[in-house]
Amino acid sequence: MRILVTGAAGFLGSHLCDRLLAEGHEVVGMDNFLTGDPQNLAHLAGHPRFSFIRHDVTNFIFVPGKLDAVLHFASPASPNRKSPYGYPNLPIQTLKVGALGTHNTLGLAKAHGARFLLASTSEVYGDPEVHPQPETYWGKVNPIGERSVYDEAKRYAEAMTMAYHRYHGLDTRIVRIFNTYGPRMRLDDGRVIPNFIQQALRGEPLTVYGDGHQTRSFCYVDDLIEGIYRLLLSDEHEPVNIGNPAEFTILELAETVNRVVGNAAGVVFLESARDRDDPQRRCPDITKARKILGWQPHIDLEDGLRRTIADFQRRMQSQ
Ligand SMILES: NC(=O)c1ccc[n+]([C@@H]2O[C@H](COP(=O)([O-])OP(=O)(O)OC[C@H]3O[C@@H](n4cnc5c(N)ncnc54)[C@H](O)[C@@H]3O)[C@@H](O)[C@H]2O)c1
Repeated sequence: MRILVTGAAGFLGSHLCDRLLAEGHEVVGMDNFLTGDPQNLAHLAGHPRFSFIRHDVTNFIFVPGKLDAVLHFASPASPNRKSPYGYPNLPIQTLKVGALGTHNTLGLAKAHGARFLLASTSEVYGDPEVHPQPETYWGKVNPIGERSVYDEAKRYAEAMTMAYHRYHGLDTRIVRIFNTYGPRMRLDDGRVIPNFIQQALRGEPLTVYGDGHQTRSFCYVDDLIEGIYRLLLSDEHEPVNIGNPAEFTILELAETVNRVVGNAAGVVFLESARDRDDPQRRCPDITKARKILGWQPHIDLEDGLRRTIADFQRRMQSQ
């Protein structure tokens, strides 16, 4: 297949390009570097089946030649308001890439008769009242909260994708991605795993907000990409959760990072910086992915952290 990946210079987009190329496909990457990094694609320079177009997908998209699939991954993804790359600091861009960017990429897929895959998110469930979250749960989202620029953009993107499927008969897929981590995450993106790893590598105590009992589930990037690739090849048009259902408290995560790095500085507890829509618990129900894709994660937290820490160590040393 000849496949367009938007958000190709980002964390997930770049891993997706690698996987698609490894499967023998031709890949066209597209990105405007809003939150991504050209370094994530540097290793693909000169690859005979990879090309790159620098473009903002909120503007009309033209791609010469045929396309068999369009994978729409462009969007800021970090909720951290202290990071310049967090979507609270990129509110209009986030809404536009979810709305106009999704509309443009759907239109492109339609023009090419290509299949379409939307990178959606567990944030469509908002601060959920149901645990773990199955795809049938409709969510609890504050439409005007600070996080709404992301949550509502993705909900709109899902609605637009289903409209193209129902009205135009477009061959669409929607993946609801739960927290994913791994090599190439921005060092300064403000999400908890990059923060903890850097603090641990610097020998500092890890900062835990609140009592550390809030839980998260973390999926290693290779597991996620495997699930997405299986979904792309499947016939499923309704959303599918892909994530790791193993639930850890933030405190357990901090202790694991410290153990893997060998950091003796421990943790410090800070007053919760939690905004009022930040979910206390988030955990995927992956029954559907298991059943229709035969997929489940295989890489445990400690193994995934080891691989991620090695990448962070290398990048921090070359800074
Ligand atoms: N990483 C996760 O845990 C996670 C969880 C749920 C959903 N997602 C979704 O997966 C996708 C990728 O996330 P990520 O973690 O790799 O984030 P990322 O910030 O590393 O990558 C996003 C990429 O999109 C690009 N981009 C943003 N706006 C653009 C525009 N208008 N035109 C062209 N390119 C644009 C950025 O420059 C960046 O390279 C996003 O859609 C995100 O919502 C990620």
